[in-house]
Amino acid sequence: MDETFIADAKDVLAKDTSVIPDFWQNKYKNEASKNWDKFYNRNTTNFYKDRHWTDREFEELRPSHIFTEHKPVLLEIGCGVGNFVWPILERNPDIFVYACDFSPRAVGFVQSNENYMESRCQAFVCDITKDRLADTIPPHSVDIVSAIFVFSALPPEKQADAVANVIEILKPGGRILFRDYALYDLAQLRFKSGHKLEDNLYVRQDGTLSYYFSKERLRELFVQHGGLVEIENDYVVKKLINAKLNIDSDRIFAQAKFQAPITTTDSIDASAGKTQSINNSEVLVE
Ligand SMILES: C[S@@+](CC[C@H](N)C(=O)[O-])C[C@H]1O[C@@H](n2cnc3c(N)ncnc32)[C@H](O)[C@@H]1O
Repeated sequence: MDETFIADAKDVLAKDTSVIPDFWQNKYKNEASKNWDKFYNRNTTNFYKDRHWTDREFEELRPSHIFTEHKPVLLEIGCGVGNFVWPILERNPDIFVYACDFSPRAVGFVQSNENYMESRCQAFVCDITKDRLADTIPPHSVDIVSAIFVFSALPPEKQADAVANVIEILKPGGRILFRDYALYDLAQLRFKSGHKLEDNLYVRQDGTLSYYFSKERLRELFVQHGGLVEIENDYVVKKLINAKLNIDSDRIFAQAKFQAPITTTDSIDASAGKTQSINNSEVLVE
């Protein structure tokens, strides 16, 4: 992002000085699951396209990459109707995928999809800010957690709880793959007055929340609060050019990877196993 763009974006955001009243803020936060469920009632499985780009952006998702000495386990949090999950299952014949969402309707769509096989996939309802993932998934058993456009739906004060929840099921050396909306994204700049709850947090027309992340916020959540190691943390800028209207504008995403550290205790406990070197870090394999 260049300096002029950032200065212009800051000017746009500074003009929106009002925030919506507490009553409505609480209502949107308390009814988040209901509002997402209504979203899937309206849109069924037709809103998002399958995310075929994910293994281009995250090498961990390629079958030939890491975690190859055992059957990898992945958890997709906020899985929606499975648009991230299906391409991963198709490309990785050995992987097992857990998928959770707090919209029962979305989880129902995943479970009734023709690609859903209980031997390869388990979808379940879970609010990641308050329901323990470890009640469904064995603690420290997951190699990869994908968080694709889900943290933006959480109020900032609940984001750290979701991180702690995920860490409980992540293996030592396991990774969180993160992609979401970033600060100054076109969608943030387009919010009209009357949608802001606080800086970088907005409510859409349909009542769902949208938070816009900075790299610093991600570091605070995953490294300072979560104790994870930052492997990657950057902005991805996609230029949209509308030649007819002579407008070019930016979609900006935050893309990051964080890794659970391998403690001395873990290394001793697992001393009967082997280790495999991944990007200068040691990851335990079965
Ligand atoms: C933008 S959609 C992304 C869906 C999916 N990850 C994908 O890439 O297609 C965000 C999803 O997060 C889910 N979600 C929001 N807050 C959640 C929470 N607290 N716990 C679990 N799921 C949540 C919503 O129901 C919705 O399905």
